[in-house]
Amino acid sequence: MKIVLTVSEMTSTMREVNRPLGLVPTMGALHQGHLSLVRRAKKDNSTVAVSIFVNPTQFGPKEDLTAYPRNQEQDLTLLEKLGVDLVFIPQPDDIYPTGFDTWVNVGQVASRLEGESRPEHFRGVATVVTKLFNIVRPDRAYFGQKDAQQTQVIRRLNNDLNLGVELIALPTVREIDGLAMSSRNAYLSPAERLAARVLWTALYQAHQMYSNGVRQASVIREAMQYIIGAEPAAKLEYISIADPDTLSELDAIRETALVSLAIRIGKTHLIDNVVLGIFPFESYLH
Ligand code: PAJ
Repeated sequence: MKIVLTVSEMTSTMREVNRPLGLVPTMGALHQGHLSLVRRAKKDNSTVAVSIFVNPTQFGPKEDLTAYPRNQEQDLTLLEKLGVDLVFIPQPDDIYPTGFDTWVNVGQVASRLEGESRPEHFRGVATVVTKLFNIVRPDRAYFGQKDAQQTQVIRRLNNDLNLGVELIALPTVREIDGLAMSSRNAYLSPAERLAARVLWTALYQAHQMYSNGVRQASVIREAMQYIIGAEPAAKLEYISIADPDTLSELDAIRETALVSLAIRIGKTHLIDNVVLGIFPFESYLH
């Protein structure tokens, strides 16, 4: 496994690799969710690159950039075990050198949900992903359905800017009680960790109602609000029942809907979602 620490070394390394080349962009503190993307990338490609970069531009001024979990040694051990070929670990001032002044702004899909409370978040994500695609030049890149809006934002920019990368979105890997794996779960105290189950309870309720034929978004939203409201440690930020491609809110669900929600538990911001009506629901329960 080759560890590449600079942009210039990555630029020369990628010219020599066997193709297809698959890229898994991450911010490290790797868990089974990340590793599911790596495993799939291994199956699909001759060379697999994983980037580890805690991207400062996607954190707001009051967010957790300095506290964000970092665990490089363990990350490298896990990646080595999976047979990853290249790990790209750039420094912030190599990605954003003095004078850096160009941003990628995605419109509509980036403005809703997470974009409402975190105005510059997706600008940071879109900019760094564009840079990673340009530096690594992958044939394919792998993203998690866990961050459904982020995945849509990246689809949009990949199409709109003709980046030509094949994007593959994979199902959310969950803990045994349904909580979606996330590097941020490490912030939760044992009591908060228990309370965080409420995300899955609410999403499961949405799924059950949909299976029973309920198609009115407001009815499903109210039931979810009630469940979140019953957990005193959880503060609801939003519930959205939207078109999975455009993220525009739906009144009535036809074939499919992306149900997503965000809550705050203590200081920790947690998001999760399910897509109703597309994937077999079991695929969410690992
Ligand atoms: P990070 O949060 O490290 O996530 C890296 C990738 O892993 C993302 O595509 C995310 O959706 C996926 N992922 C996270 N938890 C998952 C889970 N439980 N199941 C399946 N996939 C999961 O997302 C980012 O980093 C950054 O914003 C990044 C795209 C790297 C840009 O900086």
